Amino acid sequence: MSNGSYTAEWRRTLYCGEPRIGDAGRNIVLNGWLRARRDLGGIIFIELWDHTGVTQIVFNPEIVPEAHARARELRGEYVLAVCGKLRKRPEDTENKSLATGSVELLAEDFILLSPSRLPPFGPDEAERVNEDMRMTYRYIDIRRDGMQKNLRLRHRAVQFTRNYFDANGFLDVETPILTKSTPEGARDYLVPSRVNPGDFYALPQSPQLFKQLLMISGCDRYIQIAKCFRDEDLRADRQPEFTQVDLEMSFITEEDVIALIEPYLAGLFKETIEADIPTPIPRLTWKEAMERFGSDKPDLRIDMEIIDLSHVFAGGENPFAGIVSDGGAVKGLLLPGGGSLSRKEISDLENRAKELGSAGMANFQIKEGTLKGPLVKFLPDAAQTELLKLSGLTGGDMLFVMADKVWVKACSILGQIRLEIARDRAMVREGWKFVWVTEFPLFEWDDDEKRWSAVHHPFTAPMDEDVEFLSSDPGRVRSRAYDIVLNGTELGGGSIRIHNPEMQSRAFEALNISPSVARERFGFLLDALSFGTPPHGGIALGLDRLVMTLCGAKSIRDVMAFPKNQKAQCPLAGAPAGVEASQLEQLYILSTAPNERAE
Ligand code: AMO
Repeated sequence: MSNGSYTAEWRRTLYCGEPRIGDAGRNIVLNGWLRARRDLGGIIFIELWDHTGVTQIVFNPEIVPEAHARARELRGEYVLAVCGKLRKRPEDTENKSLATGSVELLAEDFILLSPSRLPPFGPDEAERVNEDMRMTYRYIDIRRDGMQKNLRLRHRAVQFTRNYFDANGFLDVETPILTKSTPEGARDYLVPSRVNPGDFYALPQSPQLFKQLLMISGCDRYIQIAKCFRDEDLRADRQPEFTQVDLEMSFITEEDVIALIEPYLAGLFKETIEADIPTPIPRLTWKEAMERFGSDKPDLRIDMEIIDLSHVFAGGENPFAGIVSDGGAVKGLLLPGGGSLSRKEISDLENRAKELGSAGMANFQIKEGTLKGPLVKFLPDAAQTELLKLSGLTGGDMLFVMADKVWVKACSILGQIRLEIARDRAMVREGWKFVWVTEFPLFEWDDDEKRWSAVHHPFTAPMDEDVEFLSSDPGRVRSRAYDIVLNGTELGGGSIRIHNPEMQSRAFEALNISPSVARERFGFLLDALSFGTPPHGGIALGLDRLVMTLCGAKSIRDVMAFPKNQKAQCPLAGAPAGVEASQLEQLYILSTAPNERAE
């Protein structure tokens, strides 16, 4: 069958998802992809699809013998233009599950605009094929309603974002992609410079330094839907190339950022998925989040909380007493209904706790009215009473207990156990639970490198009350950083920045970054800081993660048109790929990669 040419008379009058009963009797033209064909001997039915939906088309051999004969040759994913008269479907043939299901198009004529090879999978089979196959033929994958819905929702989210920040006085400024290493802590993607032999650009891990420069430049309020690049291990919510809603503001405090972001998120959720997000969004300090939920991105849909049992185990003969006297902590997690766990389930959980790095996990329960568990014999009556009081343990429950000389370790392992139990036992409630996490530590100890490193990035301001400990006790200094967390996922993070060069030098000093290294890496920012810097701060929200939650998608890849797979490859374009030796030569690069490529 030859291809027809697309002339004005074949221009669609309606999209495939649009015909309704009120259109019955109209002569219309539809353009789209053939989705399903049923040849009932006499009559041929096809479904024509475009991104709005499908309409059933009928070829009747008695009315249009010539078109009917050609329609026999049509196959899945052929592209057609069809004209005819819309009519009400005969009684009993209506399809209630289809928006167009009360009508059908009685075909008069059609042209084949382009045939299709047999696709490796039909759009309706995409869920069943492996993801690399979907990525290789992404254009077919995107022809299905789920992907279309996600991409269109993403578009609306971006549109809402642009309008919101425009209405709030923000200036959209693009920052360079070919730039210098930025300090977000991941590995850089490097780009060799042909005209500067031996030198490399780094792709930005975020526009962090440039947005600060824009504040020094007097831009006051900056926004960018910014591409960021990080060479790190991939996960369901991580891509090497991703997008941030990135912003920065001058002459502000944390409260201004929060006051701007809360109505933005509430508006975005309302506009895109009609969800009501209560504001103000609750806040937790980092310490509280760790103490109560064992995570700096707590999932507040789960009712279980971690409790402190340190003083129950302080003193006496019990195996945790030494840990408590050495400044460690004993933490508990009460699992309501956990008394019904089998021995195997309990030992699986204990093994999991060990895998996560704990020395072990004890348990307590009440059987026939008495407290049972391997540690009961070490606890005097008063301690047992206190344990019951603090934990609220009753018959039918289970209390898990963990001790560690580092409190944050006990909390975070128990926090992970909390998440896993809740997921396994369907204890995660429906809904949107936002929370701000504030007062992060400014530094964390890097045991491999044996030095302090920045939790956020080295330009984050310390809290005024903690500045005095910058050199004497860096681990104690809290930062003016904040994260916005939704249902256990970190959606975004930001901070108030250091705006005076002297404080910046002190932060570098605490991080053991020598003045010469600081100058070499961030000299341009340090220079700029000395030319009149307004107090400033900002935040970046992960757009892909935001859209992923709005879409209810399981993976960030489902909300990106052309994502990378787990090996950071694009199976569609075949990237990354080898290059000609001559190209490498021009770039003064000699490869030491082994010849065989990893499959
Ligand atoms: P941060 O590094 O916390 O902060 O990043 C902000 C948000 O970006 C998203 N994100 C990612 N999304 C997908 N794939 C990734 N690999 C990935 N990495 C990060 C997350 C995260 O919360 N410049 C600072 C912001 C600031 O201080 O204003 C920054 O980039 O949702």
